[in-house]
Amino acid sequence: MTAVDVKNDRSADVRTRELARRIEKLKKEMRAIILAHYYTVPEVQDAADIVGDSLALARAAENTDADVIVFAGVYFMGETASILNPDKLVLMPDDHAGCPLADSCPTEKFRAFKAEHPDAVVISYINSTAEIKAESDIICTSSNAERIVRQIPEDKEIIFGPDRNLGSYVMKKLGRKMILWQGYCYVHEAFNWGVIKKAVDTNPEAELIAHPECREDLLQHADFVGSTSGLLRYAEQSRGKTFIVATEPGILYEMRKRSPEKTFIPAPKDASHPWSTCTQMKQNTLEKLWRCMENRRPQIVVDEPLRLAALRPIRRMLEMS
Ligand code: 13P
Ligand code: SF4
Repeated sequence: MTAVDVKNDRSADVRTRELARRIEKLKKEMRAIILAHYYTVPEVQDAADIVGDSLALARAAENTDADVIVFAGVYFMGETASILNPDKLVLMPDDHAGCPLADSCPTEKFRAFKAEHPDAVVISYINSTAEIKAESDIICTSSNAERIVRQIPEDKEIIFGPDRNLGSYVMKKLGRKMILWQGYCYVHEAFNWGVIKKAVDTNPEAELIAHPECREDLLQHADFVGSTSGLLRYAEQSRGKTFIVATEPGILYEMRKRSPEKTFIPAPKDASHPWSTCTQMKQNTLEKLWRCMENRRPQIVVDEPLRLAALRPIRRMLEMS
């Protein structure tokens, strides 16, 4: 490291501390709660009151008595918080931080897909737009998808969308057929067994842990499959000392905090995929977090008829899980 690098590092540290101080002050003045997903950058996770997976954050948004919810995540997360809390001000550091998986399911096409199976129960992953939620009977997250599908009577057809990998994982786990929308998350799709096998062979003592948004060829070789909070719990409780982690690498920050004595290796991605980090989640910088609180925008508001239609399947999820 050169003297200039050290100086730059120091001034970045000073700026981070100053922003964190301003955010803390504003939080008290505004009676705000800051929610952040595990895939956001470390300094944003540090500034948050609650860091969690999609289910934990939806529950936190439902139960908070704060006046303002500041959501560092992707758009559908802020939108869900707003659907659950129409009377609260919901802010996001960057309302352009979308989720390509959610966006891969356009409403008109999904309606046509549903029309082919008019008697099916429609279960949609929370990683979906408010319009798709409004078209659904029940919402699920990766933490509760299995539990929710189990509660649907055996004689009922199920449409599951938009993530085909989570859908086929649940199908295999429960031995139950579902009709899948063919969406996927580009981050998790970047991992495949061909590439990860080499990492497993090089680290034979390591356990392979994976998120169910990963492809089936990889999941069938994993020692454990779980949502972000499931992976965190497993890594903490396992006797294993080394883990190859096949999910968005933002989670490693919390894993290393909880188990500093263990080694966490981010799963290598396939060279043909440009990204194995969620560039949308990383748009939530500390600077933007402070700015959205200071300016009280961007605000997330959902039209009332759409909000009510999307609220019903979210509430069903919260009751069923
Ligand atoms: P969970 O938070 O449910 O594990 O989902 C991961 C994810 O991709 C969030 O967008
Ligand atoms: Fe969407 Fe994948 Fe990013 Fe999650 S990790 S927000 S599913 S693109």
